[in-house]
Amino acid sequence: MRGWVILTTIDLNFVEQLSLEERAALVSGKDFWFTAPVDGVPAMMMTDGPSGLRKQVDTGDALGINKSVDAVCFPASALTASSFNDDLLYQLGEHLGVAANAENIGVLLGPGVNIKRSPLAGRNFEYFSEDSLLAGRMGTAYVKGVQSKGVGVSVKHFAANNREDQRFTSSSNISERALREIYLAQFERIVKQAHPATIMCSYNRLNGTLNSQNQRLLTDILRNEWGFQGLVMSDWGAVADHIAAIKAGLDLEMPGKGQVSTDEIVAAVKSGDLQESTLNRSVLRVLKMAKRFAAENQPAVRYDKEEQHDFARKVADDGIVLLKNDQDLLPLKDQKLAIVGELAAKPRFEGGGSSHVNAHHVVSPLAAAPDQASYYQGYTLSDDQVDDNLTQEAIAGAQNSDVVVFFAGFPEEMETEGFDKTSLALPKNQNQLLEELLKVNSHVVVVLQNGSVAELPWADQVPAIVETYLAGEPVGEATWDILLGRVNPSGKLAESFPIRLEDNPTYGTFGKNHDEENYYEGIFVGYRYYDLHAIPVRFPFGHGLSYTTFAYRDLAIKEGADSVTVSFKIKNTGKRAGKEVPQVYVGNHASRVETPVRELRQFTKVELAPGEEETITLDLPRRAFSWYNAKAKRWEADNGEYVIEVGSSSRDIRLTGTLQLTIGYDPNQTITAETYVGELMARQDPAIEAALKKAGLLEIIKQALASPEGKAIFANIPLRSLTMTGVKHQQIEDFLQHVN
Ligand code: BGC
Repeated sequence: MRGWVILTTIDLNFVEQLSLEERAALVSGKDFWFTAPVDGVPAMMMTDGPSGLRKQVDTGDALGINKSVDAVCFPASALTASSFNDDLLYQLGEHLGVAANAENIGVLLGPGVNIKRSPLAGRNFEYFSEDSLLAGRMGTAYVKGVQSKGVGVSVKHFAANNREDQRFTSSSNISERALREIYLAQFERIVKQAHPATIMCSYNRLNGTLNSQNQRLLTDILRNEWGFQGLVMSDWGAVADHIAAIKAGLDLEMPGKGQVSTDEIVAAVKSGDLQESTLNRSVLRVLKMAKRFAAENQPAVRYDKEEQHDFARKVADDGIVLLKNDQDLLPLKDQKLAIVGELAAKPRFEGGGSSHVNAHHVVSPLAAAPDQASYYQGYTLSDDQVDDNLTQEAIAGAQNSDVVVFFAGFPEEMETEGFDKTSLALPKNQNQLLEELLKVNSHVVVVLQNGSVAELPWADQVPAIVETYLAGEPVGEATWDILLGRVNPSGKLAESFPIRLEDNPTYGTFGKNHDEENYYEGIFVGYRYYDLHAIPVRFPFGHGLSYTTFAYRDLAIKEGADSVTVSFKIKNTGKRAGKEVPQVYVGNHASRVETPVRELRQFTKVELAPGEEETITLDLPRRAFSWYNAKAKRWEADNGEYVIEVGSSSRDIRLTGTLQLTIGYDPNQTITAETYVGELMARQDPAIEAALKKAGLLEIIKQALASPEGKAIFANIPLRSLTMTGVKHQQIEDFLQHVN
């Protein structure tokens, strides 16, 4: 009977002919990784994660404990975001889509697009950035790429899951404005522009409400405001009250709880606690997803893992950030090299937890090192104790070499999903050894392998530092591509590197309260905070050097009917081809609310031959000038002055201009009793003056504003409070009537 129905459409009619038990079973996973099948719609498999497939065929787990199939391990999102390269992220998505198809996977669980609020957050390696535009752009490209191959994605973790400790219960307490501008904006962009098949709701609570039961988040904002059409699934084990969750807008609980869950739902429908139509709506979404993405409905594909490995290397090459390069120590010439550090032989190339891939072909930096290099272990990764023998050997090696390439980073035990860090310090044995090496050889290049920000107390003494983050399985090849100059570095930091943890706004409060995480800093996250307080940083957001140099000139800013166009020229003024990421920042001086000094609103990546110059033209939509007015529940771009900066980083601004925005929203449009006298008069509007005159107020106000003190005091009084100066309430009423 149903066989022919499935060939036509999956719709409510189809759903309604299923038994209540069948429907109840569909809104929970069949097991750890599959949706439940029904006659005609097969089970569909899901698998982690952002940087490669973690397909488990035997025992499933959500923490990367049990083995998964052999798969190419791509760089972690911390590094892919540093590429600032939308095209590359799209291609990464395509490769993951191909691999997922070959492994019969319907939905890929990722990318994770949470904001790096605290540098201590244990899962920062898996996220893109501290900035929502960058996270949103990278996420959009990635999702489009995966889905172009007929594989769905689950964008995670929705929302405000910014710490790991007590992640199942703690409440992220955030102002509405910060929530919209910082923590939801990237999800909003991805939903609207890339139409992901699914969204994964996070474990935490948001302003008190568990996200799996958060109707405002899962339905009001996600569906009603943003128009999301796909399915909402839970993070693994995020559901506390399944019935409440379904009512709030959760469609699929993962992993499934089996018969218990089915019975509970059947009982809730029978008692009238859960409306059948609500259940049916979710069932329909599950079936639509399974039908669209289940392996049976996908073409069989084969893929070449070595080809994907080469692509992973390209991604790493494009993301690795050259943080420092005094006296052009890099790229390395034909020098005698001492490679120091166990991380060269046993590299950190991926994050721990659910994104852990059973990597296909790991190439360590030691294996990929040039012939003229000697290796010294220097320290052990298993603990942070200084080993005298290893230290002495490394010092002797450094003395006998032209350049020391020192590998430093966090061992995996320090940086994994499931818990947060307590410090940003690298292991003691690494820092101490480095200090020793610097005493005998000042030509030291530090190569960092870390999932997120580390304190670099020796940064001023070291001439060259390269940030490779977690570079995936081609870690060794990509590292030497940069060190030897086979590739000209072009990565830019997607997060600020503070000098000390204490400089970060969440210092002292992050993770301290088990139940509540209070986002005291509001919208001032990352560079927005450091810039507001003019706090020096080790390396700023957007920073990254090249082996060539770029000159910027001729900034032009033009307001159009619905957006602002910024154009400028960039020239490669060095001797070799290279890529630059020009970043456009906007400073809002127009609004009457607190705003960051600058916010990233546009960027692109451009490749230039030596001497080549290109004109870059970028569009800034109205949203680039907007802030979220929580009271009015809308985005507002206020008319007035904005500063437009074009930089090579957030603290290397090369061009500055101003803009008088006129296409924005004018908050003074409606005059009410709350409107301030100063704002009213500043408009110099004859209609306002006429109305004031009719109400007998014009002369009073003009006289009051005549002296400087009067002006300062009166400008600061709203219309309704003019009564304190002897004005009659009726006069104010009259004026409002005339003027509106
Ligand atoms: C993680 C998710 C992951 C899921 C399945 C959870 O612990 O938070 O990101 O997709 O496990 O492995």
